[in-house]
Amino acid sequence: MSTLPAATALIAERAKEAGPVLWLTGAGISAESGIPTFRGEEGYWKVGSKNYRPQDMATSAAFSVMPDEVWSWYLYRRGVCRGAEPNAAHRALVDLEQAIGDRFQLVTQNVDGLHQRAGTERVFAIHGNIDQMRPVGGVECVAIPEGVPTQWPRGRTLTDAERALLEVGGRPARPHVLWFDECYDEERFRFESSLRAAASASLLVVVGTTGATNLPMQIGMLCAKRGTPSIVVNPEPNPFSEMVEHTGAGLFLEGTAGEWVPALCEAMADAYRA
Ligand code: APR
Repeated sequence: MSTLPAATALIAERAKEAGPVLWLTGAGISAESGIPTFRGEEGYWKVGSKNYRPQDMATSAAFSVMPDEVWSWYLYRRGVCRGAEPNAAHRALVDLEQAIGDRFQLVTQNVDGLHQRAGTERVFAIHGNIDQMRPVGGVECVAIPEGVPTQWPRGRTLTDAERALLEVGGRPARPHVLWFDECYDEERFRFESSLRAAASASLLVVVGTTGATNLPMQIGMLCAKRGTPSIVVNPEPNPFSEMVEHTGAGLFLEGTAGEWVPALCEAMADAYRA
């Protein structure tokens, strides 16, 4: 397990290279804001007498057979996210971006909108945003209308009036979230932009992810192939820390986002400031 002085030395060395520092965040950076990852017991969703896992609900197949139940689940999760506040790690990233501008880029898997609400602007939200919706089969993303309550008790069903609000251009709308049976693209999820950022990055920082999804792993592998070091922050080892161990390119900082991100941002603001 590495230390802050080692990370600070690596940051100083990498800041001399061209290219941005690329941050890649997962649900772990929002854990200290109180947003559960829905992978545990609290993630189950009852429809009738059946229990569904997130992997069952977050699919276009589920939406095609039970759209109201899928909307109800997302509106419940939207309420949980709206009830949470950005934490010290989110705020430190805002300060870093303000200090180093275009030398900062963030890719997030999180749909909770906390990076955006904290004020980060250079964000590629590669799995969408729970506060937005788009027409079924369409790309035009709009905010879920104010007339749809943000507090949504578990199991509450849609009223006819609310169902009528969940339309875009007269067409039924769906949550703007990448589902497990769908693919990334540039228009909705910034696929190519994220890989371009990885191809030009001077340093990759990965915070709070199990590395279970495709594009984040492609980003990690592209950086490893280019010899771009990674700083990995996580309470336990993950595929990114194993990649660092295998390649020797970077550091694994075992612990939480709150313990490490503010200090890393401070070191980067000094080293990467133009
Ligand atoms: N600080 C940093 N990391 C943390 C913290 C914390 N306080 N608490 C937990 N973690 C770590 C866990 O150890 C785990 O590695 O955060 C990670 C959360 O993993 P997941 O819940 O799998 O979240 P994530 O990797 O972002 O999931 C990827 O899968 O569910 C789909 O599309 C969804 O974006 C999501 C994607």
